[in-house]
This record gives sequence, structure tokens and C-alpha cells, in this order.
Amino acid sequence: MPGTEGGTSQDGIFHEGTAFHSFLEFDLDAGVDAGALGVAIARIRAEAAAGAPAETVQVVFGFGAALLGRVAATSVPAAFHDFAAIAGADGRTAPATQSDVFVWVHSWSPGRNFDVVRAAGVALGPLGTVARETAGWVYRDSRDLTGFIDGTENPDVAEAREVAVVGAGRVGAGGSFVLVQRWVHDLEAFGALPIDAQESVIGRTKSDSIERDPLPPTSHVARVVNEDEHGAEIEIYRRSVPYGGAAEAGLQFLAFSDDLAKFELMLARMFGTTGDGLHDRLTEFSRPATGAFYFAPPTETMDRFVGP
Ligand code: HEM
Repeated sequence: MPGTEGGTSQDGIFHEGTAFHSFLEFDLDAGVDAGALGVAIARIRAEAAAGAPAETVQVVFGFGAALLGRVAATSVPAAFHDFAAIAGADGRTAPATQSDVFVWVHSWSPGRNFDVVRAAGVALGPLGTVARETAGWVYRDSRDLTGFIDGTENPDVAEAREVAVVGAGRVGAGGSFVLVQRWVHDLEAFGALPIDAQESVIGRTKSDSIERDPLPPTSHVARVVNEDEHGAEIEIYRRSVPYGGAAEAGLQFLAFSDDLAKFELMLARMFGTTGDGLHDRLTEFSRPATGAFYFAPPTETMDRFVGP
């Protein structure tokens, strides 16, 4: 069956260790010509690959449900759909801000990232508008701005490929579903909590990220750790980084999965819209300002679309 034969994930998804990140989301004008989009993406890829190897920039592309069929006609997973807003019972919400094209740029050089971001603006500008852009960076020893280590239980790259890439035999094989959300922290409110209370919110110790025992059921870790019907943990691969400055700061959440439903389950448990109805106490101190689902097709599909 076409679209199920597998492929190679876009390199940048699993390229770890880069410190500087940029996240772009574009809305395309109605009726944009797919050929013109392919030419624009080729230009962005060329800028990312330019220069000496040390100057190479990782760039990953994702497409919204409305556009994916034009990029990868035979590889659109049946279950793929736009992000839907979530309304928690307690009034907390996760808004939907779905766009068409997601571009994730990361490297060791903010300057080189800028070159690629600029190339994206120039190449995609005539086809639509920049809906959102955020620059993020690794903070201290990979901590979230709350001071907690983010990534402790993230799968290593080998395992990540198993949890984050659609397997051969399924439509979209070699690609990944992507969740992109900008979370805005209330750092003052969180920082005002005693350390013990902060640790109860996250579910891990602050200094060295040891899981709290017993784990409070409303802690972040308790809400996002779930098991499937075989008792196996339902895992995703996270690549979030902090962003911000004096006026606003938070986490640019980014994660990859072989199944969109994994994201939806975790978010539903965070916002208390499923099961026991409890909410994640982290949502009392951070709120998502954006939310979108994309699909990052495999490299072979990208090459076919963009041309040699
Ligand atoms: C304000 C936003 C968020 C912050 C600050 C945050 C922070 C953290 C921290 C500090 C940990 C513990 C260390 C680790 O294992 O990485 C963690 C774990 C985790 N988070 Fe989040 N997170 C946020 C949003 C989300 C969202 C939206 C999801 C899913 C849709 C998610 C999924 C996970 C998962 C799966 C784990 C691993 C749990 C485990 O296996 O122990 N997080 N997060």
C-alpha cells in the first residue's frame, strides 16, 4: 500500500545537544501552489546546509492536516487532524492555534539560526504570513525555567526512534506526529512556593530530579505517565527548550510521537478532562498560549516534494 513502505526520519528530530533553537509557524495563503512551496523549502534547506560542517544548522519541517495531503499525497495518516482546544473543568484552557507549516531550526550558533530563520521568512513570505516565532535555548544543565531538570525520563535516541516514528506498514511510515505549544510560566507564583511544594507540583526533586515517593496524583509526572493495555508506559520524545526575557518567559514545548493519541491522552490528563478528572498542578503555574499538531514526513517524502 502506498505510503506504508517506511523511510528515514528527518535528521534534525533526533540530533541532540544543540543549545540554540528557533520555532516558526506559517499560515499559507489559500490556494498556494505546491510547487512554489517546494521551491521555498529547498531554499531553506540550502541555507541550513551552507558553510563548513560546524556551521550546519538542523532544520525540521512539519505540515498541518490541511496541507499535508499536498506535500505527501499518499502518506497522510488517517488519524491526523488539527489541534483542538481543550477546556478544563476548572476554567484552565489549552488554546488551538493551528498553522500550516512548522519549521524547527537548531544549532550551536544563534547567528546561523538567524540566517536560516531569515531564509525561511524570505522564501515563505510571498506564500503566506509568519503566525508565530520563538527563539529558545538550553538553560543551565537542561533545566526548565522553574529550575527543574527537563528531560530526565526522555527516551535516549535509539528508544526515541521507536516511540516517535510511525512504523513500517502504517500510512506515514518514517514520519512523526508533532505537538508544538508555547507555555507561559508564572515564575513568581511558582518561585513563591517552598521547594517541597514545588517538588509536589512536578513530582520530582528539584536538585537532582529523583521521582517523589509517594508520587502526588496531581503532580506533572503522575499526569503524563500512563500505561497501555499491556502495562507498557506510553512514551513520547520531548525536545522542548525554555524561551523568554523580562516580560514573559516559559517553555516552548515540542514533542514527537508515532501516535497523535498519545499527546491527546497526556493533555487530557493534565487538564482533567478524562478519567479521574484531576488536573496537573503545573497548569496552575503555567498556561499554554499556543497549540498545534503537525506531521513531519520522512526525508524521502521531503526530497520527492522539494526535488533534488
Ligand atoms: C509548562 C510546561 C511543561 C513543563 C515545565 C514540563 C516539565 C517537565 C519536567 C520538569 C519533567 C520531569 C523531568 C523529565 O522526566 O523530563 C517532565 C516530564 C515529562 N513531561 Fe513535562 N513539562 C511540561 C509540559 C508537558 C506536556 C504538555 C507534556 C505532554 C503533552 C509533557 C510530557 C512529559 C512527559 C511524558 C514526561 C516524562 C515523565 C516520566 O516518564 O517520568 N510535559 N516535564
